[in-house]
Amino acid sequence: MRILGIETSCDETGIAIYDDVQGIMAHRLYSQIAVHADYGGVVPELASRDHVRKTIPLIKEVLADANLCPEDLDGVAYTAGPGLVGALLVGCSIGRSLAYGWDLPAVPVHHMEGHLLAPMLEDNVPEFPFVALLVSGGHTMLVRVDGIGLYKLLGESVDDAAGEAFDKTAKLLGLDYPGGPALSKMAENGDPTRFKFPRPMTNKPGLDFSFSGLKTFAANTVRKELQGNEEEGSYQQTKADIAFAFQDAVIDTLSIKCRRALKECQLKRLVIAGGVSANTELRKSLAAVMDKLGGEVFYPRPEFCTDNGAMIAYAGLQRLKGNIPQDLTFKASPRWPLDSLAAISSK
Ligand code: KG4
Ligand code: ZN
Repeated sequence: MRILGIETSCDETGIAIYDDVQGIMAHRLYSQIAVHADYGGVVPELASRDHVRKTIPLIKEVLADANLCPEDLDGVAYTAGPGLVGALLVGCSIGRSLAYGWDLPAVPVHHMEGHLLAPMLEDNVPEFPFVALLVSGGHTMLVRVDGIGLYKLLGESVDDAAGEAFDKTAKLLGLDYPGGPALSKMAENGDPTRFKFPRPMTNKPGLDFSFSGLKTFAANTVRKELQGNEEEGSYQQTKADIAFAFQDAVIDTLSIKCRRALKECQLKRLVIAGGVSANTELRKSLAAVMDKLGGEVFYPRPEFCTDNGAMIAYAGLQRLKGNIPQDLTFKASPRWPLDSLAAISSK
């Protein structure tokens, strides 16, 4: 079975073809970073317009790359939510229309299920059940996964997502949007002993997260240590020290909660996915946690940590095999709880 996957939920147009025997046959990604950079964040209307421009040309390119025609496909999967409603509507309407025109089933996919299943695109595939840490620009969630569609939300952020906190703190440090990777680079030169940021919500029980206080702590530190000191020789070093302290606090907080979730579920397999899972220090920290627990951590290759079409094609194919009923309606769901999805399988 072979499926076309379309991702347009935010600021990346991702298109891929996935085959359950051959794996990823082709994939392309167009990032809108340059479109939004001047505004310091995603401008929803510009995102939608850019998806309109890019989606169909990229689908043509992916079909050509894989040397396939529409007749060689068994379905069309598209991200139906959560995300920016206008951006989602582009992928939903193009995906649904192509499926109708090509006489194929259309498969709406939950964006976070796509992230959650992205490690399945790698050689080292986790077995069910496992705990998943989903860390993206819009979500921070801990989920117990017993099979495809068998998701139990263990905890989530009560305010900013981890990626959002990275981006906002990066902005305070004068870095361009999306600042997560740039902040992480800056932190490489930071002095680990200079600042210590709080680890929010770690000293009371529970698996929820809160990152907005950490961002405020970063803002106060920036005001105190950097403002008015632009001419000082230590200015860049102080920025790096703040970046280190912020990243260290986020990673430590995520690691503490992962350890707690694994213990509560009595599991030893951890999956991390979503944009922030590309962070090398986070991977190192979680590898150390799993080493101590005698378990294993699984994650997608860096390019499949952030938004992409391959994860949508993969998740869509699993749902297509599960015979999800088809009709001609389509709906973009900007808010869509992950644990409301239908169960497809367990192992
Ligand atoms: O999953 P994703 O591509 O989009 C959403 O679904 O939100 O995640 C994007 C987020 C951004 O906030 C970005 O700054 C963050 O992931 N990110 C990182 C890194 N790479 C991407 N954050 C920290 N370190 C990184 N290396
Ligand atoms: Zn995402």
